Amino acid sequence: MKSIKDQENLSQKKVLLRLDLNVPLKKGLITDQTRIDKILPIINFLLSKNSRIIVVSHVGRPKGEKNSSLSLKPICKILEKKINRRVNLISDDVFQLKKEDLFKNKDDEIIFLENIRFYREEEKNDPSFAKQLASLADLFVNDAFSCSHRAHASLCKITEFLPSFAGLQLEAELSALKKVTSEIKKPVTCIIGGSKISTKIGIIKNLIPKFDNIIIVGGMANNILNHKGNQIGKSIKEENCEKIINEIFETSKQHSCSIIFPVDVLVGKNLNSVSKAKELNEIEEDDLILDIGPKTINIIQRVIENSETVLWNGPAGYFENPNFAIGSYEIANAIVKKNKNKPIYSVLGGGDTVALVNEIKLIKNFNFVSTAGGAFLEYLEGKDLPGIKALS
Ligand code: 3PG
Repeated sequence: MKSIKDQENLSQKKVLLRLDLNVPLKKGLITDQTRIDKILPIINFLLSKNSRIIVVSHVGRPKGEKNSSLSLKPICKILEKKINRRVNLISDDVFQLKKEDLFKNKDDEIIFLENIRFYREEEKNDPSFAKQLASLADLFVNDAFSCSHRAHASLCKITEFLPSFAGLQLEAELSALKKVTSEIKKPVTCIIGGSKISTKIGIIKNLIPKFDNIIIVGGMANNILNHKGNQIGKSIKEENCEKIINEIFETSKQHSCSIIFPVDVLVGKNLNSVSKAKELNEIEEDDLILDIGPKTINIIQRVIENSETVLWNGPAGYFENPNFAIGSYEIANAIVKKNKNKPIYSVLGGGDTVALVNEIKLIKNFNFVSTAGGAFLEYLEGKDLPGIKALS
């Protein structure tokens, strides 16, 4: 893998820079800027080399359709303030763009293309789309480690058409995660939550041989609770997961890894509700499970207390409503408390998890913070990430 750091003659070169600006948005407002802060080193590096930067990123999952609520505009505005330079967001159809039309204005240094997932070709890793993107630039930089588990055109196929390099943040994340996996101290506990059930549920089975405890919270836990015969009301769940859940429990027995999941929950009637603690047998048909309950928090605290390494990816509940953020806050507090009493190694990963720990100002108490969610778990699983493989 070639590093952009070692590349000479970047002056006036048009660099197609893939970033992960998939920031949390609430009513058009960015609720956490960590992912924007993480791109500043590569932007400043390329500016210092006099390169011309064409940023490509996605936000959300627009599934190939234009969607104004998922525009990169608010991100460009914040970036402009942070770097004190003008950012030019181009909303034109990528297929109509020509290299010579970009940077016509001598003052243009940074151009953003609109949300790349407005094009269905992106997620199909479409060669002609990648070729068209490539035709706009002289070289390609992937500085989006957190997207590199996706075999998408602006991460993978593009590398077939341009000289391609690893960005600064991607290299930093890779070397930190390499260290985590090679120097890991047991007992290791991995806490997996969040709402991206389909991304994560298949990964758990492969993580079992590597860890002593896997704590499943968030949306994924609903699938487990349902599998165990509990009513989960209107809560989110993934269909057709029976086989994989059976495999998770079977594999855990073979490797003496404990699978820990909620024994009680907090429910609401909708996302804006107040919370109500319930035992599993009290959940009603119109309830939404939105957080873990107090007994579950106690169990998790004890497991953390007995761990040497804790990896945490994905919130325990719908933390956007503070009534359902308690489980996540208590997990964060338990890790920080344990770290103070007797240092452990703690790793945090994923956009939402980072946002919530940032909100309660505990982020500095973690040993390593990865911007990556799904990519982080797939890396731990030992998988080749397509975006990284494509750079090699
Ligand atoms: C992330 O937030 O993990 C990355 O931006 C990837 O997003 P995705 O799960 O929608 O592909």
